[in-house]
Amino acid sequence: MMKKIEWSQKLAVGVEVIDGQHQQWIQRFNDVAAAIATQEGPVQIGKTLTFLVDYTRQHFATEEKIMTAAGYPDLPAHLAQHHELTQTLQDLLRDFEEEGATQKLAEIVGSYLRHWLINHIQETDRKFGAYAQQKK
Ligand SMILES: [Fe+2]
Ligand SMILES: [Fe+2]
Repeated sequence: MMKKIEWSQKLAVGVEVIDGQHQQWIQRFNDVAAAIATQEGPVQIGKTLTFLVDYTRQHFATEEKIMTAAGYPDLPAHLAQHHELTQTLQDLLRDFEEEGATQKLAEIVGSYLRHWLINHIQETDRKFGAYAQQKK
């Protein structure tokens, strides 16, 4: 069974809009994981995957706007990480459209993607949280 991500204080960035979006984002990730784990049909898996990809774009745009407005000096490195995941998700969606819910898709979602989300929030986004905090 694919592990869910549980939101906790360990993932709190301390910026309300961002924390709210992260909870939504995690929910969408968990929906994809559940759809794959319970072997839903391709329509349902495709739907959850598309929701996740769309929400990721929306979330990254919001975060980048907030960071730009705050004059965040680490923005370029942060943008590079966002860009990398956007690319990975695009490839994932394309592979899914071409090959369906393969074992490889399940592995990438359950391992790579899951860790990416947790690490990015816990390390990279929280770094911005600390910066925003000390700027107050
Ligand atoms: Fe984020
Ligand atoms: Fe981020």
